[in-house]
Amino acid sequence: MRTQYCSALGVDHIGETVTLYGWVDRRRDLGGVIFLDLRDRTGTVQIVSDPERTPDSYEDADALRNEYVIQVMGKVRQRPDDSVNPKIATGEIEIFADRIVLLNRVSKQLPFQVSTVDTEPVKEELRLKYRYLDLRRDRMTQNLVLRHQVVKAMRRFLEDEEHFIEVETPILTKSTPEGARDYLVPSRVNPGQWYALPQSPQLFKQLLMVAGCDRYYQIARCFRDEDLRADRQPEFTQLDMEMSFMSEEEIIALNESLICYIFKTVKDVDLPRPFPRLTYKDAMAKYGTDRPDTRFGLELADVSEVLKTSGFKVFSGAVKKGGIIKVLPIPDGDKISNVRIKPGGDLFKEATIAGAKGIAYIRVKKDGEIDTIGAIKDNLSEEQKQVLLEQTGAKEGYLLLFGAGDAEIVNKSLDRLRQVIGDQMELIDREKISLVWITEFPMFDWNADEKRYEALHHPFTAPNPEDIADLKTARAQAYDIVYNGFEIGGGSLRIYQKDVQEKVFETIGLSQEEAQEKFGFLLEAFEYGTPPHGGIAYGLDRLVMLLAGEESIRDTIAFPKTQQARSLLTDAPATVDEKQLKELYVQSTYDPEE
Ligand code: AMO
Repeated sequence: MRTQYCSALGVDHIGETVTLYGWVDRRRDLGGVIFLDLRDRTGTVQIVSDPERTPDSYEDADALRNEYVIQVMGKVRQRPDDSVNPKIATGEIEIFADRIVLLNRVSKQLPFQVSTVDTEPVKEELRLKYRYLDLRRDRMTQNLVLRHQVVKAMRRFLEDEEHFIEVETPILTKSTPEGARDYLVPSRVNPGQWYALPQSPQLFKQLLMVAGCDRYYQIARCFRDEDLRADRQPEFTQLDMEMSFMSEEEIIALNESLICYIFKTVKDVDLPRPFPRLTYKDAMAKYGTDRPDTRFGLELADVSEVLKTSGFKVFSGAVKKGGIIKVLPIPDGDKISNVRIKPGGDLFKEATIAGAKGIAYIRVKKDGEIDTIGAIKDNLSEEQKQVLLEQTGAKEGYLLLFGAGDAEIVNKSLDRLRQVIGDQMELIDREKISLVWITEFPMFDWNADEKRYEALHHPFTAPNPEDIADLKTARAQAYDIVYNGFEIGGGSLRIYQKDVQEKVFETIGLSQEEAQEKFGFLLEAFEYGTPPHGGIAYGLDRLVMLLAGEESIRDTIAFPKTQQARSLLTDAPATVDEKQLKELYVQSTYDPEE
C-alpha cells in the first residue's frame, strides 16, 4: 500500500518508513551512491541507495533508467545541509531505500525527456502524438490539476452556496443556434436522418427552466465545426448555467461572486468588486473590439468629424462613403520607426491582415508641432491639427496611427495594432487581472454577404424593453465577461414570450415554417407557463488557460486536436469501412483529385 504521495513528505516524517510508487524522474550515480528522483502526480522526492547502507536495494537502483515504474520502501531522513534543495517541496529530506521493486521498464527510446529538470522545449506535434508522456511532465500535470480545482470550485460554489443542480443534456441532438457549423452523426435506425452534436446546451437549459428546474448548471461538452485558433477547439467545455426569476443585475452579481470564489480558491486572490463594465458601444469606440484588454491604455479616438473636410482624399473619401476615421495615439512613438508602418513593415502587415489598405500616420514634435508625412502633408489646416491634438491628448513624442474607411475594418485593424504595440512596448502589466463586463450588445448584426440581419448572440436573447419598438436597432439584454482581452463567458436574459420570439425570428429572416421546423418544440414549450429566465456560459478551457498563464487552450485540455482538427495521438478522424457506411446509408462524394 502507498503510504504517501511523493511531495507530501517533509521533515515531519523523518524516521518513518514509507512506501511510494511512481516513475524514475532521473537517476544519478555519484561515486557508487545512487540518487533517484521518484516522481508521481504531486512532484518528486529523492531516493538514495548505497551499497553499504542499503545493500538490498542497491542492485535494483543501479539497473533503473528514466521513466521506469517502481515501488520504493524506505526510511525518511534529513538531508545533509549541503544537499538541501529549497526549490522543491521535499528538498529537506530524502528516502533511504530498503527495497526497490521494478514494476515496469521502458523498452523504447523516449521521444522526448519527461524529467522535471528538463526544460528543453519540445515540438508540439511530438507532444500531442505522445500526449500521455507530455501529461507526465510537470507543467502539464499542474495544468490538469488546476483545471480540476477550477471545476471543483465551480461545483462547490454553485451547489453548496447557490442551490444549483447539475443536469446532463443530450449529445445526440438537433442543431442548436450558436452560429457555427454542426458536427453531424448519421442515424442507422432512421435512414437518411442525422443527429447534430450540441454547439451548446442552450435549448435544453431553457427547457429545464420551463420544467421548473430553477437553477441549472452543467460542465458541458460543446462541439463546433469552425476555424480553429489558439483559443478555439472543435470540442470544448463550458460551465453552462441558467436561472429563473432573476434580473440581469442579479445574474451579473451572482456571477461576480462565482468568479471571485474561483480566484480566491485557486489563486488566493481577492478581486475588487463590482467588476468594471463597458457598454458594447463604448468598448467599440475606445478599443475597436468587444473584448478589449483593459490592462493597458492606448485608447482610440474617433476623429471623423474633424477630418472629414481634410484635403487628404483617403480621409474625406472614407467619411463620404459612410465610413469613419479613427486614431491610435501612441506615447513615446519615436520607438516605432517609419519603416515598420510603411508597406513591407510589420505593423503595415498587421493592419492589412485586418483588411486595411495601409496606415496613415503623423508624429507630434516639439511644442505640439505636427510633423505631417507623405500624403497628409499640407492637407491638414492649423485648426484641424489643434482639434486633433486636443481630441487624442497627444503631446510631444506621440505617434498617431490612422485608420479610415469601413468602420468594421478600421476597428479591426486599430485593435490589432493596439494589441501588438501594447505588447511590444511592454505596456501590459502581466501581473494585472482585468475582468470587465461588456453589456448592451446590439440584438442584430447586418450580414452584408447574405443581405440579412443575424442574431449577435443567439436568437433567444431578449431585447431591451426600452427598445422594443424597433427590434432591428434594439439593444439586447446580453452580457459578456472579458478577461485580459479574452471572452471567457457570455449570456443573456432570454425571450420567454412566444410573440417576441416570433418577431425575432422574423427579423433574422426565419419564416414561420422554418422556425417551427427548427425550434417548434421550444416555441410550444413557451406556451405552457415559462418563467422569465436567463443564463451564461463560460469557456472552461479559456478560463483555465488564462489562470495557468498559458497561450493556447491546447495546453489546458488533456487530449486536444490540432489546428486541422486532428488528434495526432489516435489519428482521428479516419476513414471507415464501406460496410459501416452502408449500414448508415451514407456515401462519400469526396474526390481527392478535385
Ligand atoms: P457562446 O457561444 O458565447 O455562448 O459560448 C460561451 C463561451 O464558450 C467559449 N467558447 C469556446 N471555447 C473554446 N473553443 C471554442 N470553439 C469556443 N466557442 C466558444 C467562450 C465563450 O465565451 N449558449 C450560449 C451561452 C448563453 O447564452 O448562456 C453560448 O454558448 O469562452
